[in-house]
Amino acid sequence: MRPIVKYGSQVLRQPCAPVTQIDPAIKSLVFDLFDSMKAAEGVGLAAPQLGVLKRVVVVDISRQQPEILPISLINPRIVAAQGREVGEEGCLSFPDLYGPVPRHTQVRVEALDIQGKQFAVAAEGFYARALQHEIDHLDGKLFIDYLSPLKRQLMRGRLMALKQEGEQWDRDHPLP
Ligand code: NI
Repeated sequence: MRPIVKYGSQVLRQPCAPVTQIDPAIKSLVFDLFDSMKAAEGVGLAAPQLGVLKRVVVVDISRQQPEILPISLINPRIVAAQGREVGEEGCLSFPDLYGPVPRHTQVRVEALDIQGKQFAVAAEGFYARALQHEIDHLDGKLFIDYLSPLKRQLMRGRLMALKQEGEQWDRDHPLP
């Protein structure tokens, strides 16, 4: 298990590189993502949140919808999307902060599994929201980017406190 990088770190704002080879390091990254997500009781986690700039995410909404199994997605891409709804969202890089984020209600995502095999997942509602949130992380996009200036203003104190944690991460783990 690795610590989750908090808001304020530059690593959360970088575009992530596609995975070109599913080697033992990528497999171990996937296991670490699952472990850290579970320990934090999250519904998803993206590689940059562990300080790794690779296009890898995990999603597990089985507490909310037990019929949907946890999955890992390597190089995920949204290939179709429709509908739109605003829903309350949080992020493990922003403990205890939530805000309204517009997302597509249905998405189709293509990705590679841990064996390197291509697969597609059709998701709707909360599942679709979780996938969109995690895939955003791979492009350095965070849920607060969708909030109104007023909402962000209301969060300002908490964001400033988090930012110090994130900046400390950068001092300990400088980007190459
Ligand atoms: Ni997040």
